[in-house]
Amino acid sequence: MRQMKRFRRLRRTPQLRALVRETHINKNSLIYPLFVEEGTKERKPVESMPGIYRYPLELLPLIIKEAADAGIGGVLLFGIPAHKDALGSSAYDDSGITQQAIRLIKKTAPELTVIADVCLCEYTDHGHCGVVHDGEICNDETLPLLAKTAVSFAKAGADIIAPSDMMDGRVAAIRSALDEAGFADIPIMSYSAKFASGYYSPFRDAADSAPCFGDRRSYQMDPANGREALREIEDDISEGADIVMVKPALAYLDVISRARESFELPLAAYNVSGEYSMVKAAARNGWIDERRIVLENLTAITRAGADIIITYHALDAAKWLEEEQL
Ligand code: PBG
Ligand code: ZN
Repeated sequence: MRQMKRFRRLRRTPQLRALVRETHINKNSLIYPLFVEEGTKERKPVESMPGIYRYPLELLPLIIKEAADAGIGGVLLFGIPAHKDALGSSAYDDSGITQQAIRLIKKTAPELTVIADVCLCEYTDHGHCGVVHDGEICNDETLPLLAKTAVSFAKAGADIIAPSDMMDGRVAAIRSALDEAGFADIPIMSYSAKFASGYYSPFRDAADSAPCFGDRRSYQMDPANGREALREIEDDISEGADIVMVKPALAYLDVISRARESFELPLAAYNVSGEYSMVKAAARNGWIDERRIVLENLTAITRAGADIIITYHALDAAKWLEEEQL
């Protein structure tokens, strides 16, 4: 007679469960997003993201030391300029807020990896990620501005350049501009499969980057398209991306998993603002156990195949992982 399977044998004690655990979250692979705002001296809470703030330059060293001490993999930097215009000129101004922040971070914690998000939406007065003509977001006119921004961030000391705009051809444009400017060693982490998601709305409060007309569906991907995500990733790799990304994470675990199977490059997943805010809101109501849910979510993203996770929970998770040996 066939013997009953005894799966429970290896679940009997915490030690046995730890012994056979398949997936481990690595705190070195967690990236903490940071918002730096120009023209203020106060740390301002982001209402829709409890625990997340916009930092003025003056207070940036505090959070940077915290990130460095937590032993996480790095920070992803978003600058919020005092001046916005149609072409997002503060993005590629060598003395812009993001450039100042990069220099300050590298001075405060030289070993902390600084990833600079490259996009125009925080810097344009219309809030779109590209140049706008007659209500259209123009791809090819946007590329040189993104390339200039990337070079300016690299000059300021960024360790990785992360284009999040979703214009076609931007990885190639940025790669050749970096190479020409003497930054052949600076890697590109591309937001390759970035979906037009409702999960970004708290971020738009945080970064003050909501589009003032229309939406981003003409450049970000349709949430329904899994196969197209693989084509986007493949193309970014052929244009020279060093790390590729799927964004958001939790509603797109299938895309992460397929990307993991199809490509050998390091794969990042962005656990975005709305995913964070939902957890925080439920936890604040006492409806879920925050620590347990966060670690479960980060485990799921890792299990799906992400090597790197960008998450607003990074500092908390790093602490919890230290404590959580079993
Ligand atoms: C800007 C950008 C966005 C995010 C990262 N870079 C917002 C958007 O595309 O509207 C979203 C991050 C998040 O929701 O946490 N291009
Ligand atoms: Zn943008």
